[in-house]
Amino acid sequence: MTDLLETPAPPAAPGTTWWRQAVVYQVYPRSFADSNGDGTGDLPGLTARVPHLARLGVDAVWLSPFYPSELADGGYDVADHRDVDPRIGTLEQFDELVAALHGAGVKLIVDVVPNHSSDRHPWFQQALAAAPGSPERERYVFRRGRGERGELPPTDWTAAFGGPAWEPVGDGQWYLHLFAPEQPDWNWANPEVREDHLRTLRFWADRGVDGFRIDVAHALVKDLSEPLPSAADLAAGDLPDGAHRLFDRDEVHEVYREWRELFDSYDPPRTAVAEAWVPAHRRARYASPEGLGQAFNFDLLQAGFDAASFRAVVEDNLRLAAQAGSSSTWVLSNHDVVRHASRYALPAGTDEEAWLLSGGTEPVADRERGLRRARAATAFVLALPGSTYLYQGEELGLPEVADLPAEALQDPTWRRSGGTRKGRDGCRVPLPWSAGGPSHGFGDGPAHLPQPGWYAALAADAQEGEAGSTLEFYRRALAQRARSQTAEELEWVTGTPADVVAFRRPGGWTCVTNFGTTPVPMPTGRVVLSSGPVGETLLPGETTVWLEGEAGAGR
Ligand code: GLC
Repeated sequence: MTDLLETPAPPAAPGTTWWRQAVVYQVYPRSFADSNGDGTGDLPGLTARVPHLARLGVDAVWLSPFYPSELADGGYDVADHRDVDPRIGTLEQFDELVAALHGAGVKLIVDVVPNHSSDRHPWFQQALAAAPGSPERERYVFRRGRGERGELPPTDWTAAFGGPAWEPVGDGQWYLHLFAPEQPDWNWANPEVREDHLRTLRFWADRGVDGFRIDVAHALVKDLSEPLPSAADLAAGDLPDGAHRLFDRDEVHEVYREWRELFDSYDPPRTAVAEAWVPAHRRARYASPEGLGQAFNFDLLQAGFDAASFRAVVEDNLRLAAQAGSSSTWVLSNHDVVRHASRYALPAGTDEEAWLLSGGTEPVADRERGLRRARAATAFVLALPGSTYLYQGEELGLPEVADLPAEALQDPTWRRSGGTRKGRDGCRVPLPWSAGGPSHGFGDGPAHLPQPGWYAALAADAQEGEAGSTLEFYRRALAQRARSQTAEELEWVTGTPADVVAFRRPGGWTCVTNFGTTPVPMPTGRVVLSSGPVGETLLPGETTVWLEGEAGAGR
């Protein structure tokens, strides 16, 4: 009584498919490790921590933007796509990082931000200095405003962080920014823009990076023909696929076909993963072998911690990934969302924005439960076929820092929403490496976002060698995953209690999660990993076990 989901591995040369089932660890560099005590994490800090990553057992690091930036959006406002922010390091230090990672057997994926640049980018500065209609302005999206003197924005569109999506430049023209005003959107109809991005990709691929994470991959190509629609028309939900004026247009895949040719001209080919917020059935286009190769599925970020939701997400995504000829991507946390140890600590249906606004007091988070569930969910996704993307600090079981004071907030969301949305700083607080020290081992001085006192107990050195600590659990899980890793197949175990989801992987690896709170009989087999304490005969609630041998639904 099983159903088999099989993803046939495509024919490929050895060494070219590492990404299909990789564990990728996301580093948000300004909050990872600070080597010079200026409060901001940097490349030498990261290089010094490569042993931590190697010991953890990750296959690759995804490095969020480290390029020169005014930090209007945490580095996603890039002033020079082919350099390193001097506050973070130098190109030589980047090369040292690549060498250290590769020396430790860890690959490197860098973030590419192709939808927009920073307003400090030389091309945007040239555009501002040039006249309306000039080739300089044609690299971005400038339009004349409405009204006699162009004093009104061309449309009523709003930006992702709040406020209007157009900014006036004083001569009757306005430029488009889907995100912050400091992030003008590129004009992808302009061949110069396309060529410049190919240069950027070659620049980093030549320096040895193994892959790219493509920011807002679904937004680059827009239909900005006149008349521009109103916000209400844009939002009308019944558009045929590929017909939205701003997002997920079919033509964007011409860009990625060209990029794929570039990636495949390297040996081994460079990998890429799309951050594309598109309906599930449109994801395959980004993830196809002719396109970027892989696309994030963020479904678990939105799913409640319950058996039915988790199973449905997995079934859908294994099917979709197989259709795309890709492997699936599992994400529980990243730099844009409330950390999963906190999401799972809140009652189902909690409005996370409101919870953050209350400083994390309404409702009160059940931290112990959140961590128990987070570890169970992590063990669940690590057993699935496909790759898992981990976010820095989740290996310490860090919850969200929900009570950052307003004056410390850096996320443009806070200001742009007029203080109605707190934003993403709570998952970006610099990591605690040690229980003591001025910034818990992050650096020699105070960190750029204040760390809470409770960080001490969760610091890496406090968890080192501690049986049962989250850090040791992650290490064991990744080591066991590497030992058990097998073909991209999954077979559901049926006949389990309603709150239990169980599946087998080839080679006798079974994963069983009890999403409920009532203990269930421990399935047969030898327990090789558990996300929390387990007994001989009972699998406690909110716990995952991995079993080897003839594992089944019950004893
Ligand atoms: C992506 C990034 C996010 C950033 C936005 C604009 O969604 O993950 O952090 O703010 O793009 O670049």
